Amino acid sequence: MSPHQDLPRRFTGKHALIFGASHGGIGGATAERLAREGALLWLASRREPSRLLKRLRRLTDRVCWHACDVGRRDSLETLIETVHRDADHLDTLVNNVGIEARGPLEAMPPEDVARQLDVNLRAAIELTQLALPLLKSPGSITHVGSILGLGGCQGFAAYSASKAGLTGFVQSLAIELAPQKIRVNLVAPALVFSPMTAKHIGKWSLKTERKILASHPLGMGMPHDVAAAIAFLASDEARWITGAVLPLGWLPQYPLPDIADL
Ligand SMILES: NC(=O)c1ccc[n+]([C@@H]2O[C@H](COP(=O)([O-])OP(=O)(O)OC[C@H]3O[C@@H](n4cnc5c(N)ncnc54)[C@H](OP(=O)(O)O)[C@@H]3O)[C@@H](O)[C@H]2O)c1
Repeated sequence: MSPHQDLPRRFTGKHALIFGASHGGIGGATAERLAREGALLWLASRREPSRLLKRLRRLTDRVCWHACDVGRRDSLETLIETVHRDADHLDTLVNNVGIEARGPLEAMPPEDVARQLDVNLRAAIELTQLALPLLKSPGSITHVGSILGLGGCQGFAAYSASKAGLTGFVQSLAIELAPQKIRVNLVAPALVFSPMTAKHIGKWSLKTERKILASHPLGMGMPHDVAAAIAFLASDEARWITGAVLPLGWLPQYPLPDIADL
């Protein structure tokens, strides 16, 4: 069955800003899902996702992409000013930006540690802070964390730390913004087939594949599986949900998927 059959139209006329929307990834699938449900889109990433934009322009009246490096405050400020000028307000903010570097901490260049914390955590806080004045009440913010932010895995110490920090940020900010009816939630996906993971998956041995699949009882996720959860949390259907950390493709009772040799 197509993931797009008989979709509701929960975002008709709503303004959505998605950070980290690229072709083939979770952000791209989220943009497509929201567009199919009627949203007007503002997208940001460093590289222009031309194929994705072409696809989206067939689905929605309004899709604008702006180059933005979330690691640079001036770049974020320019983006927010542009969105403010074009859209006046936002109904929903999705932050899907993430990078990963893997390997034993002892051997990891300090720049790789710093970059993951900077892009996955510090910038996530900064972009949320800058976008807040544009968010209408009721509104929603959804961050993309990871199951590696809920537990540990060999080779991912700095990445896990960045995503665990993001989880704590969401839980505290949800309390702060609840009186303004702005909801803040996080999805925490297990392994998803995306540009971030495809290059590794292509090199898996049969043994590795078996091991990974054994720790993913529902199988590996696709970007549209995550997009469906984000769309739900961002929509008014979730008007009574805030501060939620939603694991996807994994059960908290299960051992954390071992993706060390991914
Ligand atoms: N794939 C998985 O198995 C998995 C599992 C759990 C969680 N996640 C999380 O899911 C999110 C999406 O990942 P994905 O798998 O869909 O891979 P992806 O396509 O590589 O998504 C990462 C996005 O972040 C953007 N980005 C990276 N650095 C940026 C920067 N400095 N400024 C602005 N944008 C930046 C990328 O675009 P540009 O490079 O063009 O800037 C891209 O749009 C990430 O937060 C990741 O940590 C992924």
